[in-house]
Amino acid sequence: MTQNAIEIRNLRKTYRAAGNQPPKDALRGIDLDIPSGSIFGLLGPNGAGKSTLINILAGLVVKTQGSVKIWGFDQDVNPRQSRAAIGVMPQELNLDPFFTPRGALDVQAGLYGVPKSQRKTEDILELIGLTDKAEAYARSLSGGMRRRLLLGKALVHSPQILVLDEPTAGVDIQLRNMLWANVRRLNEQGMTIILTTHYLEEAQEMCDEIGIIDNGQLIARDTTANLIGRMDQKTLVITPEGDAPTAVPLPDGIIHTIGHDGTHAFTYSQSTITTGHLIEAIRAAGMNIRDIRTQEPDLEDAFLALTAKHPAS
Ligand SMILES: Nc1ncnc2c1ncn2[C@@H]1O[C@H](COP(=O)(O)OP(=O)(O)OP(=O)(O)O)[C@@H](O)[C@H]1O
Ligand SMILES: [Mg+2]
Repeated sequence: MTQNAIEIRNLRKTYRAAGNQPPKDALRGIDLDIPSGSIFGLLGPNGAGKSTLINILAGLVVKTQGSVKIWGFDQDVNPRQSRAAIGVMPQELNLDPFFTPRGALDVQAGLYGVPKSQRKTEDILELIGLTDKAEAYARSLSGGMRRRLLLGKALVHSPQILVLDEPTAGVDIQLRNMLWANVRRLNEQGMTIILTTHYLEEAQEMCDEIGIIDNGQLIARDTTANLIGRMDQKTLVITPEGDAPTAVPLPDGIIHTIGHDGTHAFTYSQSTITTGHLIEAIRAAGMNIRDIRTQEPDLEDAFLALTAKHPAS
């Protein structure tokens, strides 16, 4: 096993001008190592360049510059080996409407040169929950079923690396849970997983490490825990007993908001004031506390802070 499943150096992609569309620098020099055995989340706003990067890994988009190694094989030097090491579930549905799930999986296995005796079509159908629909035309499958079939297609050649581009977009909650359970199992069996999602709670729960892309550049790369740990902000939410003062004299930097439900929220930086001192200040202002809870920062807070759009100056 190589130490890094993926090694990307100075990766650039410029889409050519088409019609009245100017050229687009979708990737502007990405350096990224993805450790083997990890579940790695590639996050970023719409149009950041995530799918472009993934489609380059998949061999679906031709890079403009830079190098990509997949499982130790340089894409340009060893195209066949690097392709064999990776399976990609694309964001766009690209199914032939006249294939059945079983047929689509068989054709895909054929494309990858998997001998009939080594095909795992039935296991994959089971894994993606399409055994019942194995003989139905793809065009008659629901959107969620089609996405699962795309996952199945990514698995036919037993790749070491599985890449999922928004696997749960439009998939219902039960299937989502099933999908993540399957992904986790594949990871426990040794498969490296790379995924994108706009559901940041899912990313927080699933991913060991996260890379954030914004406007074609990698702006953060850390463990999930460290990214969240960078957020210093915490919120104390108080339900007052009886009439609460509307103004609470507080040290600088604490934001006090009153919710529609009558709760008072105090947002503060953990490095400048302790929760104990804040509660003392609130009590001293005459507020009696009936109930209290705290809101810890999460991946969504870290993501929003990192990708915040600053007005052009
Ligand atoms: N085939 C193409 N031709 C021209 N421009 C493209 C093409 N594909 C993508 N782009 C542009 O490249 C940029 C990055 O797109 P990409 O699809 O990689 O973003 P993304 O991060 O996957 O976004 P999303 O979260 O919406 O899926 C966008 O500005 C997009 O408009
Ligand atoms: Mg995308």
